[in-house]
Amino acid sequence: MNVSRKFPHSRLRRNRFTSSIRSLVAENNLTVNDLIQPIFVKEGLDGSEAINSLPDIKRYGLNALDSELERIQNNKINAVAVFPVIDPKKKDDNGTESLNEDNLVCEAIKQIKNSTDLTVIADVALDPYTSHGHDGLLNESGYVDNDKSLASLTAQAMTLAKAGADMVAPSDMMDGRIASIRSSLEENGFVNTIILSYAAKYSSKFYGPFRDAVGSSSNLGVGSKDTYQMSPANIDEALHEVRMDLEEGADIVMVKPGMPYLDVIKAVKETFRVPTFAYQVSGEYAMLKAAIQNEWLVEDVLMESLLSFKRAGADCVLTYAANEIANKLNR
Ligand code: PBG
Repeated sequence: MNVSRKFPHSRLRRNRFTSSIRSLVAENNLTVNDLIQPIFVKEGLDGSEAINSLPDIKRYGLNALDSELERIQNNKINAVAVFPVIDPKKKDDNGTESLNEDNLVCEAIKQIKNSTDLTVIADVALDPYTSHGHDGLLNESGYVDNDKSLASLTAQAMTLAKAGADMVAPSDMMDGRIASIRSSLEENGFVNTIILSYAAKYSSKFYGPFRDAVGSSSNLGVGSKDTYQMSPANIDEALHEVRMDLEEGADIVMVKPGMPYLDVIKAVKETFRVPTFAYQVSGEYAMLKAAIQNEWLVEDVLMESLLSFKRAGADCVLTYAANEIANKLNR
């Protein structure tokens, strides 16, 4: 068969003629099932408060959480990722509060599981709890000690699973943490707790607004996470990280940040063909929202940015814009 691919036999504009036709030939679609809403809960807060560097996102006291959960459910979003902002007086070098079974995040998880059927994702990392703002524990010289950190992170993952988290999400980037957490979950009968591994997590400046939101930026100060989070220069290493985490027992892997790392999402999906999530992180959201608020860009850039994750191969996106976008998709 000799089908001419040449103009005018082929006019690619034919399939763009109406919006109905354009949607029929769409290769990728964004739906509410692709969205996860991050939520910040703050200890001792009555009601909610704005976060300067994250427009339209708030911190919620436990007494104000239900109204936000209602909004998320009305928008038909299936899952939330919950992040704690604890009383700064409770922070110490070892992040001890992370192991308290009645700590803020455990109470929030119980509240969400009791009052909704949302899937709850809980971060495993010590940074909301440590006085130095690092995700692990320090040795005498101030270096984040991998093997010493594993025990704490594993114990933290267990408290989160016990509180009812459907997914524990190690975001700390210590070597060996997936294997350690998986063994502990299995030994304790949590055979269906999912490990969502932040497998390819880069040492990124795009996390700034998140660190403001959880109040860890002042703890971290000028410190960086370069000795455990990945270098933005690397992609082969991301595949190595993902391979190790899958072998150690991760069920889902994540790439983070998102938009500046779409090539990594694509490479991970094409190489491993496993559930792959991506995180449109705080700085990406803040950047887009700031431009929208200044009327330099229109709101539709958010939808376009999220569609780019789908095109790259992400199965799901954690985004601060989840509520806003879901609301639009449902209309
Ligand atoms: C904690 C954690 C961070 C984010 C998610 N979990 C910050 C960090 O690694 O410093 C960033 C999320 C965002 O920027 O939206 N380990």
